Amino acid sequence: APDPRHHSGKLTFEPVPPNTDDKVTVPSGYEHSVIIEWGTPIIEGAPEFDIDNQTAKAQRGQFGYNNDYLGVLPLGRGDHKALMVVNHEYTDEILMFREYPGGSEADPEQIKIAMAAHGLSVVEIRRDRETGQWRTIMDAKGRFSEYNRRIHLDTKFKFTGPATGDDLVKTKADPRGTTPIGTQNNCSGGLTPWGTVLSGEENFNQYFVGGDAAPDEAKPALKRYGFNLDVHHDEENRRFDRVQERFDLSKHPNEANRFGWIIEIDPHNPNSKPRKHTMLGRFKHEGANPIIAKNGKVVVYMGDDERFDYLYKFVSDEKYRKHDREHNLRLLERGTLYVAKLSFTSEDEIDGSGKLPSDGAFDGAGKWIKLAHNDESFVDGFTAAEVLVNTRLAADKVGATKMDRPEDVEPNRLTGKIYAALTNNSDRGKDGKPGADEANPRNKNKHGQIIEITENRGDNTSKEFNWTLPIVCGDPNDESTFFSGFDKSKVSPISCPDNVAFDSSGKNLWISTDGNALGSHDGLFAVPLTGEHKGWLRQFLSVPVGAETCGPFISEDNKTVFVSVQHPGEVDGATVDKPASVWPNGDYAKPAVVCAWRPDGKDVGR
Ligand code: FEO
Ligand code: CA
Ligand code: CA
Ligand code: CA
Repeated sequence: APDPRHHSGKLTFEPVPPNTDDKVTVPSGYEHSVIIEWGTPIIEGAPEFDIDNQTAKAQRGQFGYNNDYLGVLPLGRGDHKALMVVNHEYTDEILMFREYPGGSEADPEQIKIAMAAHGLSVVEIRRDRETGQWRTIMDAKGRFSEYNRRIHLDTKFKFTGPATGDDLVKTKADPRGTTPIGTQNNCSGGLTPWGTVLSGEENFNQYFVGGDAAPDEAKPALKRYGFNLDVHHDEENRRFDRVQERFDLSKHPNEANRFGWIIEIDPHNPNSKPRKHTMLGRFKHEGANPIIAKNGKVVVYMGDDERFDYLYKFVSDEKYRKHDREHNLRLLERGTLYVAKLSFTSEDEIDGSGKLPSDGAFDGAGKWIKLAHNDESFVDGFTAAEVLVNTRLAADKVGATKMDRPEDVEPNRLTGKIYAALTNNSDRGKDGKPGADEANPRNKNKHGQIIEITENRGDNTSKEFNWTLPIVCGDPNDESTFFSGFDKSKVSPISCPDNVAFDSSGKNLWISTDGNALGSHDGLFAVPLTGEHKGWLRQFLSVPVGAETCGPFISEDNKTVFVSVQHPGEVDGATVDKPASVWPNGDYAKPAVVCAWRPDGKDVGR
């Protein structure tokens, strides 16, 4: 747990100015280095990466593409060994292969390589005691940690929870509906108190074809989840169906229902079978972050990253037991799923301009609406399994509040308050779309906002809460921005918050961005949550051309900031041979994980 006695949490770093440099920039007094990049071999027998000689077999033993979430779990005694778990969200074939004719023309081996580049990596890392730098432990002689692991689209999973075995998740290959194959579009995630990793399957809809020929009864849900029902074999698609027929919905419509879950991985046990927890619902899961409530139950907060989609929480039936890992490993299999409905208190009209209400705050109350408790549904016309598989439809029915793309949702372990990044929403207030409200106060919202949720009585299992917006992002010179009332002349511009994290003090929120609409590159920012400097948001780091900043993760001892640099060089028209970014090696762009630290050994942020 955070220990503010050891970490004052005071932020004193000199902010990184907004920039468009093709590199990672950190404040003066800090070092940074790449820990691992796409293609680095991590499993015994995997070859060194060669962009001109890639195979699916090699990629199954190499670090995957487009690193997103990362979590670092201490390993053994001391603080110099750790397991780093990283999501590989999606592939960018045009930046992976010198020749890529497109999914419908691609060499089937290219498709298999892309499938293998999805999923997750588990990598043991060690810190150099002298310098403070973290490195993988693979060396030139090819010695690999026994913990290292790749999870990809051919890894066997098992379903848990009430939708297991339901007709909606049965397929020809798995007639019992218990054993989905593979994970994909793993976006963000979170660490559990029992040392496992949760990861959200997000934009899985893009990976299927044949939706137009799926059975009629499957279509309303396919449509609500964003599957393309107009084009039989979408040419823009990666065409995984060309090597695995299950990605063709005209033949295997239920395969769609086997993605979109929260998965749990036990990195301490490389032979453990990863699970998909159906009790946490199915949507475009950004991530999942747990906290132990005062009564010992585990509460997991989650966002569905789509314009006008929802915030959710899961509350376990059983309580966390400190020394009973076997018990804790089953906590997410039984419980209750809720969706958030907000109420608004402003007396003023919310006109979509982002003007601060006259009471001085965007704020209000809210209720967690119960959707299902194990086999019991609380939504008219839905079985519990239907609630869990078609969670969006169930949440629509109960009138949940339509938010501006809920990305990361994370509880603060010091205060129990919850912080969610609402990244942007270009459709807010457009014709036929919902207009601004007090929690989503700008129409055509380009820059996003942060919402803070305080559960009643500080009880994370509560059914009621209050909320406020501490940050409304953008250029501080723009009147529609808000930084908790702090002097805007000192604040860094910020746009499109995506992932959030806390340092060990628990007093600061760290925010990484994706899609900066202010003309400079994405980055990582830190802002105090309380005290006289509340709202003093400053940029800590910036990333290369075309990249977004993911992760972020601040080590338990507050000495290291880890970030994922995702999709560097992802710029229209760029290719391997005409790269928009040459980060990190000076030739072409590669996604990679970076650590930043202070060589003087002091805490980060100071
Ligand atoms: Fe994969 Fe919602 O970002
Ligand atoms: Ca108000
Ligand atoms: Ca994200
Ligand atoms: Ca993103």
